Amino acid sequence: MKNILVTGGAGFIGCNFVRYVLNREPELKVTVFDKLTYAGRLENLAAVSERFGGRYHFVQGDVCDAARVEETVALRNIDTIINFAAETHVDRSILDPDAFVKTDVYGTYVLLEAARKLGNLRFHQISTDEVYGHVAGRRRSLEEDALAPRSPYSASKAGADLFVNAYCTTYGLPVTISRGANNIGPYQYPEKVVPLFITNALESIPLPVYGDGKQMRDYQFVADHCAAIYLILTRGRIGETYNIGTGSEMTNLAMVEILLDELDKPPSLIRHVEDRLGHDRRYSLDVSKTLALGWEPDYTPEQAIRATARWYRDNRWWWQPIRDGEFKQYYETVYGARRELDLQ
Ligand code: NAD
Ligand code: DAU
Repeated sequence: MKNILVTGGAGFIGCNFVRYVLNREPELKVTVFDKLTYAGRLENLAAVSERFGGRYHFVQGDVCDAARVEETVALRNIDTIINFAAETHVDRSILDPDAFVKTDVYGTYVLLEAARKLGNLRFHQISTDEVYGHVAGRRRSLEEDALAPRSPYSASKAGADLFVNAYCTTYGLPVTISRGANNIGPYQYPEKVVPLFITNALESIPLPVYGDGKQMRDYQFVADHCAAIYLILTRGRIGETYNIGTGSEMTNLAMVEILLDELDKPPSLIRHVEDRLGHDRRYSLDVSKTLALGWEPDYTPEQAIRATARWYRDNRWWWQPIRDGEFKQYYETVYGARRELDLQ
């Protein structure tokens, strides 16, 4: 692994992964391939560009554009593709699934074709615990569980996983897949619940908790996720899928209490509002297969939430322009007409 292509590298997890690998591998060269949608931001990589200039290269492009993908892979002498590029927000997928099908399914197919045609390149797909769907009772999802996605976002990600495995079986493409739980940390677009609630709280705006707030999520720190992805890339078995998370989930209300406490803001900011359509109540991953590779998360979910709250408190320069831009319109569309619930 000498020249890697990181698609979606200007987004939240991608930019953290680029930092992680450049710091960790002194000889590695990284090409980021990103369309720069609303979620992809060059400022996420500005410090990387300054510090690692010679080993870092940026290409603006769409993963659905086969010619541009193949040209980049050939010109940059790529030996490994790591596919982070995706439309990622469930609420946006409910409003308009179109871009999700295009980028998450067709875009993955384009990348797989490029990997197959240009030398059977190593391919790693960044997937999500959402492909397993709602997990009932005390069960935890295992990698071999059937896929049961329930939102347009998770259906698109599941479609991509099936394509990745099909390319391994049919063409012998050396693939791995990782399925991560909810990531939080620096540079996450403030539409996702944790940065949304932190930035709302910092502006003393109410926090819109969907339904009763008793949905369960495993909030993992993004740096832990990146370390696990790297381990799977270097030590994972070809053809295999790996779950990544802390293995410990909490309710959304518990998450809110922690972040309000860290920011010293009052619980009176909490508002229960109309639920998300088709909302998955619980995700829960069995992560023993990834632990067996020799990885362990450094952060508990609570530590991850507190560290994330401090980062947003200290980095208003990053999120304030976002909240003052396109985000305003989006916020109005999703939350403007949302009915408040009286749960007494
Ligand atoms: P993000 O929305 O922050 O970033 C997505 C990036 O992909 C952006 O830089 C965007 O510009 C780029 N992109 C979108 N469409 C593109 C296209 N057609 N061509 C090229 N680039 C395109 O997402 P994220 O939270 O960093 O998620 C990254 C990956 O991790 C996704 O595949 C997502 O499904 C997966 N994932 C996310 C989480 C999470 O909690 N955020 C958890 C598990 C898995
Ligand atoms: O589980 C991994 C997935 O986590 C990733 O694959 C997705 O890309 C990522 O967006 C995330 O999906 P979720 O739907 O779990 O994340 P989100 O931050 O949107 O919501 C987390 C929980 O918080 C969920 O139960 C819905 C709830 N929520 C969300 C928002 C935006 C609220 O209560 N209020 C909100 O305003």
